[in-house]
Amino acid sequence: MRQVIPFNDEWLFVADDVNFRASDTRFVPVTLPHSNRILPHHNFDDAEYQFVSTYRKRFTLPEALSGRRVYLDFDGALSACSVAVNGQVVGAHVGGYTPFSYEITDRVHTLRENVVQVRLDSTEHPEIPPFGYVVDYLTFGGLYRDVRLRIVEPIHIVDVFARPLDVLTRPALEVAVRLKNQSRQERDLRLELVLREDQGDTEIVVASSRYSTVYVPRGGGLVATVHLDDLPAIKLWSLDDPVLYALDAELYDGDALVDRQRVDFGFREAVFRDDGFYLNGERIKLIGLNRHQTYPYIGPAAPARLQRKDAEILKYELGVNIARTSHYPQSPHFLKRCDEIGLLVLEELPGWQFVGDSDWQALALRDLEAMILRDRNHPSIVLWGVRINESADDEGFYSATNRLAHQLDPSRQTGGIRNFLESQFLEDVFTYNDFSNTVVEPIHTPHLITEFNGHMFPTKTWDNEDRQIEHALRHARIQDKQFGMLNVTGAIGWCAFDYNTHRVFGSGDRICYHGVMDIFRLPKFAAYVYESQIPPSVRPVLQIASLWTMGDRSEGGNDPLTVFSNCEAVEVYVGEEIYGRFQPDRETYPHLPYAPFTIPGMTLLALWGNHFQDLRVVGLINEQPVIEQKIAADGLPYMLTLDADDDRLAADGADMTRIVFKITDRFGNRLPYAIAVIDLDLDGPGELIGETPFPLVGGQAAIYVRAGHTPGQVTVRASTPRLESKVITLRIR
Ligand code: GAL
Repeated sequence: MRQVIPFNDEWLFVADDVNFRASDTRFVPVTLPHSNRILPHHNFDDAEYQFVSTYRKRFTLPEALSGRRVYLDFDGALSACSVAVNGQVVGAHVGGYTPFSYEITDRVHTLRENVVQVRLDSTEHPEIPPFGYVVDYLTFGGLYRDVRLRIVEPIHIVDVFARPLDVLTRPALEVAVRLKNQSRQERDLRLELVLREDQGDTEIVVASSRYSTVYVPRGGGLVATVHLDDLPAIKLWSLDDPVLYALDAELYDGDALVDRQRVDFGFREAVFRDDGFYLNGERIKLIGLNRHQTYPYIGPAAPARLQRKDAEILKYELGVNIARTSHYPQSPHFLKRCDEIGLLVLEELPGWQFVGDSDWQALALRDLEAMILRDRNHPSIVLWGVRINESADDEGFYSATNRLAHQLDPSRQTGGIRNFLESQFLEDVFTYNDFSNTVVEPIHTPHLITEFNGHMFPTKTWDNEDRQIEHALRHARIQDKQFGMLNVTGAIGWCAFDYNTHRVFGSGDRICYHGVMDIFRLPKFAAYVYESQIPPSVRPVLQIASLWTMGDRSEGGNDPLTVFSNCEAVEVYVGEEIYGRFQPDRETYPHLPYAPFTIPGMTLLALWGNHFQDLRVVGLINEQPVIEQKIAADGLPYMLTLDADDDRLAADGADMTRIVFKITDRFGNRLPYAIAVIDLDLDGPGELIGETPFPLVGGQAAIYVRAGHTPGQVTVRASTPRLESKVITLRIR
């Protein structure tokens, strides 16, 4: 039977190119996912992570192999590496975003200690996608995804593709099982499939196929395709109820189980048509945001918990229904969470505006293949991006990427993200980055907007209020417009989170401030445009897009006051006095499900002198108050807050959670102009990842706690002059 051994722990690392003979004392112990350098959240140079480093791990096999085969599986390494076992190179891989695997059977000792050593080159090589020209994001460096050791029988399963058919009429399943035979004999084996539904604590068998005999020729591979027809009442995977099924493929030799592999998937029909995107036959307007995998301090080297949290932020805090993994395949943990919570995904191959020579293109095709083979079971993924983001037309290359995608996965449509309308339309969906500041009339359908805003209006959390509001309204106007166009299937804004970039982009401090949230995943006003589209039946939302000051805007006052809410009406109070009751601004936003409120007349004169008091806005549904927000008129720093996303971490040396700190007014609103130094320290079996002291600008930021290997209690303390210190505790288990 297969044995899969997690291989993230007990690595040694040195930020240097060293040979096999270099002593372990030159290295430091690390756990994966690992970033080759912890960086500040901005103001650093990419040269700081562009170097060659070495990873080493000593290991022994759990038991004698008895003819079994050993593989080392890497989920990803940035950006080029060669892997050696016991001093002999077993393989080399270039490209940082796709998995790779090496058989090491003939290189490992079964009774003695083994050493695997990885030489990792994190410099930018023009012959490796996405490099070759310039790239608007940083790639960073490190063994930044999971590694596993896999021990299998000579005849084993390579992968399983569970492809639902006719889900709305007569649900069936076509299962393609890739097998490999490394033995010297041909074999007749039995392949059994078992379909299970996860029902919380238990799993129930929904269907199974018995006794499919497969003939496996010697020394080769084959794909066995089995159908499970006439499935009983299948539950569909949907955005509100993302039901997942598990399929076990089991390979028997006589009565002996040789291998078993499980894949999780869902039954859903996802189609882009000329008049919209349909999920399970229902038209759904797509509203989404682009996601880069960059986190502050650690770049992309985020463990499962943080990857999953990003999906949760997109779904539950931002309320979007689709994310694009700009501009590369992203973490399996992120995609898994999208499956579990019902968040759609457009995933694309690595690249940015540049297409290289035929060797470069061959690597891009290899990346595309690896991405689809890795991810085609995810029900969340509804579209493959098969064009290098914003590149020029290339009929030969893009016919090849389309062909490959359709061949590996006949169940999904393709798109190709471009930035010019006249571009040759070779895919199934015309995916278009629309930087017109409006929504252009589509030339081809189905038409999906894959980016807008971004560099057209970069905005920082501490920018002047006018700019922060206009940033939000640009998102609101474009989403409103596209909601009114039947020939636009949806719009995915640029972007969810601020991200680190090269000096030729962004604000010079190595950040593109294009997010509706900052790099810490904390909201700007623009985040509230999205959040307020969450139906009130899920939760009421009310967010005032104002700093509530007398004089931050030109000419002073707060006219108009913008409120993002999904309520039917809002009541505005200044001090104890009601200023008025208001309806959503349907005139300006006729199409958004929940139009913003535009509250006029709050001029300097109206608020002057004694009239400028605390603001209170109450949201009403069915005439009942359901939510309210208050903003203090005195604008003084009142409180330092400190909150952890999780109160428990696993003692695995890699688990991390975010710790958010803010300086707020009396009512808990962050004060964007509170500038302060925050001292953070930690006690216990964990480590702070981030800057301390932290020079806080914008009233909100975050650091991370990383668990050590011993259980216990971790205490984090934050302090700043003139405010009460805060302490939180976490348990490491
Ligand atoms: C697009 C590009 C994105 C990002 C964005 C900024 O052209 O695809 O990666 O650079 O512009 O608005």
